[in-house]
Amino acid sequence: MTDLLKLGVLISGSGSNLQSIIDQIEKGTLPAQIKIVVSNNPEAFGLTRAKKHGIPCAVLNHQDYLSREDFDRELIHVLQNAGVDLIVLAGFMRILTQSFLRAFESKIINIHPALLPAFPGTHVQQKAVDYGVKFSGCTVHFVDEGVDTGPIIIQSVVPVCLDDSAETLAARILEEEHKIYPQAIRYFAEGRIIKNGRRVEIKNMKNPDHTAMHNPPLDR
Ligand code: GRF
Repeated sequence: MTDLLKLGVLISGSGSNLQSIIDQIEKGTLPAQIKIVVSNNPEAFGLTRAKKHGIPCAVLNHQDYLSREDFDRELIHVLQNAGVDLIVLAGFMRILTQSFLRAFESKIINIHPALLPAFPGTHVQQKAVDYGVKFSGCTVHFVDEGVDTGPIIIQSVVPVCLDDSAETLAARILEEEHKIYPQAIRYFAEGRIIKNGRRVEIKNMKNPDHTAMHNPPLDR
């Protein structure tokens, strides 16, 4: 049991990404252990999911803290006490301070529902639909001091169709999130991540598929 990667998962809402991580751990396909789930939102459904699986939870309501620094100090404390190796932001809707980033240098990852660097920030599925892009997707990346700017670990691409709404696109993207987030965590658990500045290399990777995708499809 000693070589399991110890995770701290931070959530604010539904926690479907948390669920996909729990499911893969329970199936035995992800050699990790969730030491703690932390939510800044006491109502987050993700807390119910975690408790159902016997995972320790902490609620740090940001409204109870005078400043971001105070909130992050407590968050650092909770995560260090839990002895986590990797911080997994899974729909965590708070910007982290420099102190937090420094405390867990190169150990914080996030999932974003767009193909970064396109559409950082919030409401990105609506922005992708409004812009008229033909592909969007999701990105797992290291967290740095910018908003969704850290080095990219893995991405998944989905088509955007003319009849898509933000909701239908979000659902298509979310399905992919549930595949690539556990995969990214597995890379860490297996010690396969090499970060070279902005470029992230995965050791012992399958040969990449060089096939191009087209949307709409080519006539011939
Ligand atoms: C996901 O779309 C994630 O990419 C974004 O927030 C959403 C969280 O969903 N950061 P859930 O709470 O994991 O269901």
